[in-house]
Amino acid sequence: MPDPSLKVTDNRTGKSYDLKIQDGTIKAMDIRQMQTGPDDFGLMSHDPAFTNTTSCRSKITFIDGDVGILEYRGYPIAELAEHAKFTEVSYALLNGDLPTKAQHDAFAGELAKRATLPAGLLKILDGLPKGGHPMPALMALCAGLGTYNNDARHVRDKAVRREHMTRIIAQMPLLAAAVWRHRKGLPQVNARPELGYVGNFVWMIRAADQNDRTPVNPVIEKAMDILFTLHGDHEQNCSAAAMRAVGSSECDPYSCTGAAIAALSGPLHGGANEEVLRMLAEIGNVSKIPAFLDGVRNKKAKLMGFGHRVYKSYDPRAKIIQKVCHEVFGVTGKNSKIDIAVELERIALAEKYFIERNLYPNVDFYSGLIYESLGFDPSYFTVLFAVPRTSGWLSQYDEMLEDPEQKIARPRQIYLGHRGRKVAPVAER
Ligand code: CMC
Repeated sequence: MPDPSLKVTDNRTGKSYDLKIQDGTIKAMDIRQMQTGPDDFGLMSHDPAFTNTTSCRSKITFIDGDVGILEYRGYPIAELAEHAKFTEVSYALLNGDLPTKAQHDAFAGELAKRATLPAGLLKILDGLPKGGHPMPALMALCAGLGTYNNDARHVRDKAVRREHMTRIIAQMPLLAAAVWRHRKGLPQVNARPELGYVGNFVWMIRAADQNDRTPVNPVIEKAMDILFTLHGDHEQNCSAAAMRAVGSSECDPYSCTGAAIAALSGPLHGGANEEVLRMLAEIGNVSKIPAFLDGVRNKKAKLMGFGHRVYKSYDPRAKIIQKVCHEVFGVTGKNSKIDIAVELERIALAEKYFIERNLYPNVDFYSGLIYESLGFDPSYFTVLFAVPRTSGWLSQYDEMLEDPEQKIARPRQIYLGHRGRKVAPVAER
């Protein structure tokens, strides 16, 4: 059978071209040969939000948005959430397979060994207002950490790169906890890595001071572990694309992770769970839902936590989070906003507006309710997304740097502005 190809006729010239189809795609560069004459630059494709353009070949995360499948390294997300700890998931994202017990123990040990911050780094926080948004604060700490790790710029040296990737993963929970404690006016504490990756993070958030030995509640630790797994990676979303695009300039992983944190912080990406809580608070009670949904239909508001660029059915992560919600509420007491959320979902899923547009709850619809019940305020939610996503970002970064097909990211544009204008002296304009 001949190689699959696409026959295209350029009606401007009458010429036909056979474009090779590989993995269900054509190469955008293959259409450049379609020219109207020797002075023509050649045809390009226009795809402003990359809605139908692949930018890499990847073996990390698979999503089938039509049927709600999410797999990391081929492992279904529900299986991972049920049978693996987040550090096992992190290992799989980075290395391709779930670890054996010995491999996991070694990885957890490597993370624990690096769970300490350079003395002086947290002084950055002294210059930041307590009421400032925590995501830029996290970004500042992450970029600042890079200044203590100058050799991280040798990104083509695999051993150096992996060392810094491990450091960033190990230290991100410490940075996140430091941001939290700064906001709350709590004294900073050193990590207690013997509590494990997630257990230590929960302890660092909740401890009154370094001597606090209140045990971490296992239900809360387990819930956080599952939430970390659900947020581990999500293929080429805005922040992963930022990580790859910035990393393609061979920028160090600390700065690239800072860029990914920036991308994640927007309300259309990781910032959505914060917006969900604000929305639920604004709605206030179940009786106000019909009026709110009227506003959504009339485009006056968005139903935050609904809709996804890729999932056109139920986000599989949302289903798992719903279950975790109830387990956490068993410890913390029920979050009263859950009733509004469940009713919103029930009504929305039966409404023409949402059905026609394939709008279903996404990961952010319920996660904020858990975070709020655990005592986190909405503006901190995205930080809780960034901590586990760091493993995904760095896996994407590593894969990109190992990929011989990749070059510095440099999109094209359609230029619509003026050309060749005269510059008159300012007094004559
Ligand atoms: N509420 C109301 N209408 C919506 C919503 C929503 N949440 N999402 C999409 N629509 C409508 C949109 O107005 C458009 O309608 P029309 O065809 O009449 O113009 C149609 O659905 C298609 O939407 P779109 O904006 O073209 O879809 P997109 O793929 O560009 O946007 C999205 C995806 C996630 C940005 C969007 O659904 C959204 O803004 N959702 C709310 C924010 C949110 O929950 N984001 C978290 C995403 S999941 C976390 C992550 O992975 O980062």
